[in-house]
Amino acid sequence: MAKRVGTVRSVRALRKRVAAWRAAGETVALVPTMGALHEGHLSLVRLAKKRADRAVVSIFVNPTQFAPSEDLGTYPRDEVGDRKKLAALDTDLIFSPTEKEMYPPDFSTRVQVADVSEGLCGASRPQFFSGVATVVAKLLIQCLPDIAVFGDKDYQQLLVVRRLARDLDIPVKIVGGPVVREPDGLAMSSRNAYLTPKERRIAPLLHSTIEDVAADIAAGRPIEDALTAGRERLIAAAFDLDYLELRDAQSLKPIEDEVDGPARVLVGAYLGRTRLIDNVAVPRKRP
Ligand code: PAF
Repeated sequence: MAKRVGTVRSVRALRKRVAAWRAAGETVALVPTMGALHEGHLSLVRLAKKRADRAVVSIFVNPTQFAPSEDLGTYPRDEVGDRKKLAALDTDLIFSPTEKEMYPPDFSTRVQVADVSEGLCGASRPQFFSGVATVVAKLLIQCLPDIAVFGDKDYQQLLVVRRLARDLDIPVKIVGGPVVREPDGLAMSSRNAYLTPKERRIAPLLHSTIEDVAADIAAGRPIEDALTAGRERLIAAAFDLDYLELRDAQSLKPIEDEVDGPARVLVGAYLGRTRLIDNVAVPRKRP
């Protein structure tokens, strides 16, 4: 039987546990989440357990990354289910702070990462990355892990977090974990639960379309042609498209003429009321 996982709700209690591990010479990994855990999150926890002696999972639905019109109130929550899943993976500690612990009434600081936050999701969700950067900076400083693990599915977020850790000299290695997909290709996401049965049948087209765009570009199709074909296919299938872009995999700068290094095709779109994002690498040309 899986052992129970301890939960702490205060920064003080978190630091006490981490300090004891450090005193015993153990390394620590942090996996920040907003809960409602699915196989995608669990793969990050497995990666954390492989890369460090101890794995802490934070569960906090972070209000500062939601706009007033977004789904903060209805965001899926399942603390009991999450605890069971984390116990089965032998997670060492859950950090599940209250909102007051993270944001006391006179909280006044915002972390803003320029450049990689701009465009893509940052264009239509202007508050999102500063909310993410603020909470992730806090979580990293609260826990001071050796590594912190984030999913490649939120690719722009991963680069924002890497940049903030570097710029603020937070001594942590940011590790990306591969996207975990349903058998039909849909990237796992807590928000998939919002999809109606009809939308769920359409949703895998997001992944197959960006795979096709990436393959076409790798095969030498002009970039704008390939992107336009992908955009048209998604719009025809009822997606309300936010962006479908080809970007440099490190800088996220647009690539217009030729792919001469690692590149990714990224997409963000609404299907009904559900916002979905996904991304894939452009396959490397054979020499
Ligand atoms: O990806 C998420 O679940 C969240 O954006 C994160 C990184 C936990 C910050 O709230």
